Amino acid sequence: EQQRSIPGYDYGSDELAASPVTLEDLELLKQAVLFTGEDERYLRMAGDVLESRTEQVLDVWYGFVGGHPHLLHYFTDTTTGEPDAEYLARVRERFAQWILDTCRRPYDQAWLDYQHEIALRHTDKKNRTDGALGTPPLVPLRYLIAFVHPLTATIRPFLAEGGHPADEVEKMHGAWFKAVTLQAALWSHPYAREGRF
Ligand code: HEM
Repeated sequence: EQQRSIPGYDYGSDELAASPVTLEDLELLKQAVLFTGEDERYLRMAGDVLESRTEQVLDVWYGFVGGHPHLLHYFTDTTTGEPDAEYLARVRERFAQWILDTCRRPYDQAWLDYQHEIALRHTDKKNRTDGALGTPPLVPLRYLIAFVHPLTATIRPFLAEGGHPADEVEKMHGAWFKAVTLQAALWSHPYAREGRF
């Protein structure tokens, strides 16, 4: 059983709203991103490589966000102009769990429902989970989409550290790219006008 003691990590909770995306829609979206059973197998492998490295991955990602004021902005208390350290720390813990969930969870109804919750946490429900009320109320869609690249490019060296041959590293990396693209596509739902998702 994966960790449930992470504050605000509500994966599998009965309280979550059902995803507006059906399992059939998900299947078609997987096909659109060329996600197959082989990718699932390579994601499991990636999970084993990344498990002991999530803190180092997060150091890189937080360094990237922290190094760009226009990105750190979404973690910044606009009343004081200071980054909200507690908010950053709490999101970081859930982000580490997300790395492993991306690699290891079955992409079933519970996963789909938590995808919807994460989408809402970047939009309608941003700031609520951690009570970070002074920070901006929305992460813009353009940055959500743009982040697929840094979150994919920067994972590669970590995947390579697992001692797997180059072709397996390549396949793990490809599977990761597809999984992150798939999730960014799902998370676009609350941003899309009715009928346009
Ligand atoms: C929350 C991933 C884009 C800012 C989260 C969480 C994850 C995540 C896993 C925690 C979810 C949970 O509560 O369990 C991603 C991925 C992205 C992305 C994969 C793009 C592909 C962005 C961008 C920003 C951002 C561009 C802005 C710089 C935030 C913030 C939260 C958050 C502020 C906390 C939301 C809240 O108040 O609950 N993100 N994120 N994210 N992310 Fe992102």
